Amino acid sequence: MPDFQAAYWEARYAREGKIWGDKPCRAAVEAGKIFGKYRSERILLPGCGYGRNARYFARQGFKVAGFDISTWAVERAREEAKCDALQIEYMVADILNPPFWPKAFDGLFSFNLLHLFGKEERSSMARWFHRTLEGGGILVLTSMSLRDPDFGKGEEVGHHTFESKKGRPVFYFDEEDMRRLFQGWFRILRLEEIQEHEDHGGKSHFHWMWFLVGEKAPL
Ligand SMILES: C[S@@+](CC[C@H](N)C(=O)[O-])C[C@H]1O[C@@H](n2cnc3c(N)ncnc32)[C@H](O)[C@@H]1O
Repeated sequence: MPDFQAAYWEARYAREGKIWGDKPCRAAVEAGKIFGKYRSERILLPGCGYGRNARYFARQGFKVAGFDISTWAVERAREEAKCDALQIEYMVADILNPPFWPKAFDGLFSFNLLHLFGKEERSSMARWFHRTLEGGGILVLTSMSLRDPDFGKGEEVGHHTFESKKGRPVFYFDEEDMRRLFQGWFRILRLEEIQEHEDHGGKSHFHWMWFLVGEKAPL
C-alpha cells in the first residue's frame, strides 16, 4: 500500500478518534445472522479499525480476530476488548502483505476496505479472501456503490475512482464489477445494494454500498 494511504488513516484516527462510534454497523449485524446460519465459528476482520464490529461478533459468541494498518486503531481495539473482557486477537498488518494465521477461518467480514485499492490490488484481495477461508467458508463484504452520493465528488483519479477526501481514493463498484471480481473464487449467495447511516464529521448522512455474501468455491 502506498505510504500516503497508511498515513491518511493514522492521521484521520488521531484527529477524529472513534469516527463511527461504538455501535456495530448495520452490515455487521446482518453478517452475524449469516455467520450463525452457516455455522461459522472463527471470524476474521481485515481492516477492523478500532474494533466496533469485532466486539459485536465476539459478544455474539464467535471467535474473532482482526487486523488493521493503523496502529492507533489496533491499540484502541485492544484496550476496548480488554475493558469488555472479550478475547479478540488483533494485529497491526497490511492486507497487501497479509499476516499468516496459524488457524483457519470459516467466516470473513470485510467492511468498506476493498474500494480503497486499485484494480490489481482488488484482484489480489479477492484471491487472498479465498485462500484465507476454509472450504465452505463464508465471506461477507461491503464496498461502495456507484449509487453512493459521494460518487463524482472531489478529484477524479481513475476509472470510477474519486478522492472525495484528499488522500483517500475510492473506487465505486457497479454490479458487474462485483460479480467479475468474485466469481470463480466464490459462489455468490447474495449481492444487493444497502444503505448505511453514519453520523460523523458534524453531519448525519448515508452511503450506498454493495453487500456481498459468498461461499468459498472449490478451484
Ligand atoms: C472505512 S474504514 C472501516 C473501519 C472498520 N471496518 C469499521 O467499520 O469500524 C477502513 C479501515 O481499513 C483500514 N485499512 C486501510 N488500508 C488498509 C490496509 N492496507 N491493510 C489493513 N487495513 C487497512 C483503515 O485503517 C480503516 O481502519
